Amino acid sequence: MTRAYAVDLLSDTLTRPSAGMRSAMAAAEVGDDVFGEDPTVARLEARVAELLGHEAGLFTPTGSLANQLGLRLHVTPGREVIADSMAHILRAELGAAAAFSGITSRTWISQRGRVLPDQVLSLMVVGTDVYHVPTALIALENTHNFGGGTILPLDTIAAVRAGSQPHGVAMHLDGARLWNAHIATGVELAAYGRLFDTVSVCLSKGLGAPIGSVLVGSAAAIREARVWRKRYGAGMRQVGILAAAGLYALDHNLARLADDHARAQRFAQAVAAKAPVVDPAEVESNIVILDLAQHPRSAAEVVADLADRGVRAYALSPTRVRLVWHLDVDDAATDYASAATIATLGAA
Ligand SMILES: Cc1ncc(COP(=O)(O)O)c(C=O)c1O
Repeated sequence: MTRAYAVDLLSDTLTRPSAGMRSAMAAAEVGDDVFGEDPTVARLEARVAELLGHEAGLFTPTGSLANQLGLRLHVTPGREVIADSMAHILRAELGAAAAFSGITSRTWISQRGRVLPDQVLSLMVVGTDVYHVPTALIALENTHNFGGGTILPLDTIAAVRAGSQPHGVAMHLDGARLWNAHIATGVELAAYGRLFDTVSVCLSKGLGAPIGSVLVGSAAAIREARVWRKRYGAGMRQVGILAAAGLYALDHNLARLADDHARAQRFAQAVAAKAPVVDPAEVESNIVILDLAQHPRSAAEVVADLADRGVRAYALSPTRVRLVWHLDVDDAATDYASAATIATLGAA
């Protein structure tokens, strides 16, 4: 049986579809998408592609699949992707790039998911010899989940692009939460999107849809991704009912991500006023990480104590606790969570 929490900050994937979203799903026009005949899926794919400044889009059931299709478009077996050591594509997709696509990887170490262009570019291997694995792809993540919702600035991404493109090294963005970066900064989605060859975005995180991601890229790349999606067994039929949830989410839940950011900030400020475990200046979107390196309690102890107080959080490591804001958490729940956290830390 699942336990009921007064405030559930485990993840922004927990949201349940609203009544309005369910109505939109029920009313969706559908067809067999494997034959390209689902008008609602086609509308979602075209809309997301346009928003991100790309030619075409492909609806996938998960962000992991959208990412892994993106990776395999650019990297042939025996070549490599380079990424942050905390990147979701390498750390939390169960080795899919190696298991399915024969892709090897190397990583750079970052502070909270921040990107230093020189560090990234110096890791690239270009040209071929008989020893070194050639770099085919740089993968970035924006916002950065395990980094704590960190936003990658546009000029940083542009510097990586400028240094990699002349060498024929492609770029993929895991944009599961690119929506949050867009709302927090006001930078157009397409301005981010155009700096990458492919981008994946999730509808099932802060946007509140029950399922669904979209991979965007050139028309040719997405044609190829469509073949691979089917080969992996993820060709779907009348999934306009799911795409309708995504379209509804874009219409109703995009601008309101600002509320999640404000509440994460409100929580961080309340906790920081009592215990030096978070710097509000480092809370850039909807994710807060408590750094317990200097605190007597471990992340597991804090998570267990918070659970006893009705607040669910996640231990990212022995010293780091992650809390994620989403559309089912309001101001009162935020204040409840900050009071519980302060009590748990013994800082009241
Ligand atoms: C940054 C990031 N990328 C990709 C994914 C994968 O999405 P899914 O769970 O739909 O496979 C997640 C999921 O939490 C994520 O946080």
